[in-house]
Amino acid sequence: EQYNEEYRNQFHYSPSKNWMNDPNGVFYDDTTGLYNLYYQYNPDGNQWGNMSWGHAVSTDMINWKEVGIAIPMLENQGKEDFTYTNTTGSLSSYGQVRYVGVPTTNGGNGAPDGKKMIFSGSIYVDKNNVSGLGKNAILAFYTANYSIGTRINDGKDNGLGTWLGYTGIQEQQLAYSLDGGKTFIQYSSDGNSSDPLPIIPVTASRGGDAANFRDPNVVYDEKNKDFYMTVVSDQQALIYKSKDLLHWTYSSNIVRQNDVGDGVWECPSLIPMTVAGTNDQKWVFCVSVQQGTHATGSGMQYYVGTMDANGKWSPESDQTMINPMTMDYGEDFYAGIPFANLKDGRTVMIAWESNWSYTGDSNTDPWYGNMTLPRELTLVKNTNSTDGYLLENQVVPEISHNEQNNVIPVQSANVNLSANELKKVNYSGHQYKISATFSWNKNNEPKSVGFKLRTSDDGKYDMFVGYDLTTKLLFVQRLNSGEPNMGNPRDHMNAYVDTEDGTITITVYVDETSVEVFANDGEKSITQNFFMRPEYIGNQDTGDIYLYSQDGKTAVTNLTVNPISSIWK
Ligand code: FRU
Repeated sequence: EQYNEEYRNQFHYSPSKNWMNDPNGVFYDDTTGLYNLYYQYNPDGNQWGNMSWGHAVSTDMINWKEVGIAIPMLENQGKEDFTYTNTTGSLSSYGQVRYVGVPTTNGGNGAPDGKKMIFSGSIYVDKNNVSGLGKNAILAFYTANYSIGTRINDGKDNGLGTWLGYTGIQEQQLAYSLDGGKTFIQYSSDGNSSDPLPIIPVTASRGGDAANFRDPNVVYDEKNKDFYMTVVSDQQALIYKSKDLLHWTYSSNIVRQNDVGDGVWECPSLIPMTVAGTNDQKWVFCVSVQQGTHATGSGMQYYVGTMDANGKWSPESDQTMINPMTMDYGEDFYAGIPFANLKDGRTVMIAWESNWSYTGDSNTDPWYGNMTLPRELTLVKNTNSTDGYLLENQVVPEISHNEQNNVIPVQSANVNLSANELKKVNYSGHQYKISATFSWNKNNEPKSVGFKLRTSDDGKYDMFVGYDLTTKLLFVQRLNSGEPNMGNPRDHMNAYVDTEDGTITITVYVDETSVEVFANDGEKSITQNFFMRPEYIGNQDTGDIYLYSQDGKTAVTNLTVNPISSIWK
């Protein structure tokens, strides 16, 4: 049955079949009341390739319906970039031809037949028709990814010829929708939408390489009355400015200053946010880092700063860029971007729940990849953070639409655990939210407290979620789930949480292959996927839940378990 396959999450979005990675252009449409989610999608298989924008819609950001492909790859125009050039040296007898659109079978980074792939980007809803493309036009800014190749003019132009070399190219392009985001028309300044010109051509001159210039994210600055587009270029982000959303000029950049050399930046966004309880506005720069974060692999960071009248972003202090803040401390929160056009000043981010380090290790079929639950972001003051600010994240309250009543009776909501007690919770399942407050007495402190979730019948396998009092770290121990440790990042993830007051509240959303863990209502989070594979753990159920307290007494209060119903019904 569709959506009932082994490992299929029941309340996290995934495509019915085929590969998915980054969320792209997520936005709220206030004319229809629908949230729209686009994403990196391969129409042809459950591995990465043929990148196009897939599309799903929802009335609440939780219950999604797949719509189809919104932006397909661009056809290979097969045209020459320039005409025959007589060369000297070894090629003198031939001359060379440059082609746009090199089939991947011959090298380069395009699609198999040399089409331009549609890489990640963002949406801006043009309510006031600033672009002239139409009132309420939905503008999709994306990266066209393809290769240019040089080959010998050997008279075999219709065959594959002899390719001499390739250059990967990434350029920023625009497509727009006049039907609420279902279909898109390619914008081209010369009017030829079948072979669109970029709005920002490749910019290798600015210190990056042509093949790593991508993921445009557009936002409006109410104060400066300017649009900004943030685009990554290797290990920096370039900020462009525009008044009409069509013409963009480079204004400034943000440069990586930590773990430099460890992999490119991807999927940037600049988010204007008001610091909770104040009128201060900050511009939070969020970015995905392919290598060199808290995780062994890809992870997300953020940096707090301000925007000046010229559209130049400045970090809060000389520490900001050196000590980046971590968005989520798990290994499976990547390429997150905020929803555009939300009401009431809300900031909600959704991310791809995976990590580039092990996409090949999963055995989900016929699809790959799911999104995280959408997270409400709040910028708060916090003394344990770089520059004194913390981006708290919580699952959006709309999750309540799928939450069923708490199954823990009032008299069992408070439990005292003696030292090393493992207490079984009177509920077993695979899809639920569990929450409890753990408190201890300073004179008889436990070493750690927490939940054993998704425990197997034989008690050997579980997802261990807890708090280590000796290190003050919230943690998720994934290796207990029976995952083979293949040298990839699949193990123990931590997030610092101060517990001076002798108490911590831990909330976990548990799905078939996912845990999203929150300390103290969103102060820190850890997102991990896991696969309880029968070949390692045997065919047993993995639904049991235990509370535990190591080496000391713990009072558990406000224990609740809310089963969460499937979004696929
Ligand atoms: C991030 C990313 C983006 C790129 C897309 C390609 O996960 O590498 O930088 O646009 O995926 O699918």
